[in-house]
Amino acid sequence: MSHVPDPKHVLHSGYFHQTLRNLQTPNVDISPHNLMFPIFVGSFGHANKAKSMPGVIQYGVSNIESELKPIVDKGLKSILLFGDEKGTYADSPQNPVMLVVPRLRKQFPNLVIACDVCLCPYTSHGHCGIMKNDGVIDNQASINRLAQIAVSYAKPISFNSRAHIVAPSDMMDGRIGAIKKGLIEAGLGNQVAVLSYAAKFASGFYGPFRDITKSAPMFSDRKCYQLPPGSKGLAARAVLRDINEGCDMLMVKPGLAYLDIVKQTKEAHPEYPLFVYQVSGEYAMLYHAAQAGAIDLRGVLEEVLLSMRRAGADCIITYFTPLILDWLQIKSKY
Ligand code: PBG
Repeated sequence: MSHVPDPKHVLHSGYFHQTLRNLQTPNVDISPHNLMFPIFVGSFGHANKAKSMPGVIQYGVSNIESELKPIVDKGLKSILLFGDEKGTYADSPQNPVMLVVPRLRKQFPNLVIACDVCLCPYTSHGHCGIMKNDGVIDNQASINRLAQIAVSYAKPISFNSRAHIVAPSDMMDGRIGAIKKGLIEAGLGNQVAVLSYAAKFASGFYGPFRDITKSAPMFSDRKCYQLPPGSKGLAARAVLRDINEGCDMLMVKPGLAYLDIVKQTKEAHPEYPLFVYQVSGEYAMLYHAAQAGAIDLRGVLEEVLLSMRRAGADCIITYFTPLILDWLQIKSKY
């Protein structure tokens, strides 16, 4: 007599057709609104490309509209702006971010614009906060300044020329509360969203980014304000703290090595949109592995994006956004 397997053990019958496979992977598709594109803006476009991140360019203040247009035409829905100009103040009118936000709002009325808020590109020592003479972060002074910068990104004349989102990446204690208070006092409380880099770890994956923005700290490291990579409990507390201080959206950073934190955060706070940052080192890792013929970029990147969505990411911040939009366009033709 042939062996009849227990019907409950026969799993292949549930996913032998692509449409049935799709049903086994709900809510993990990638659409353009699930992607946010990080962009560096400086006085000179294209000038300093990071060697470690081929394909990632610096956008120029004078021609950012024409450089972005083809990507917006492909379906780009949101961007995260970084100003990488040493020597200007974060909120001076000459700052590249301050210059381009109103113009981008005008040119691309449907594009969501987020501005990274941090002090590291603007401090001489490259730390994310203001230092006292003894080399210790002055937390109160730092969050006051961060709130000023966030308000100035959100402030321009009219609703149609402001950033939609401010995203503090500094990790100082109390910055979400200070920024929210600043926005409310400026009458912007319900017009600008705060995306908190809530669970941001002290990671080796930020290397190429610090090259591009020349923001590596001159001494010491960021371990006193970024989370220890092994910590789950602190990440949970940091997220809860930022929620209690009034953030609108959450982020986990980096992505691939922290998917358990993504899952933990989404499960604890399903009511908050969750962003995951696939950071510069993750980009470099995939890019160079593919260049070396070790992996197929498209296959592996699609797998990573799917895994991020499966873990609970609503939006993935990735330097690969233009490439992924190309793939989505081709897919949508079938
Ligand atoms: C600055 C900042 C960093 C990144 C985003 N904002 C570097 C850091 O915190 O050291 C990293 C982004 C990336 O690696 O792509 N606070």
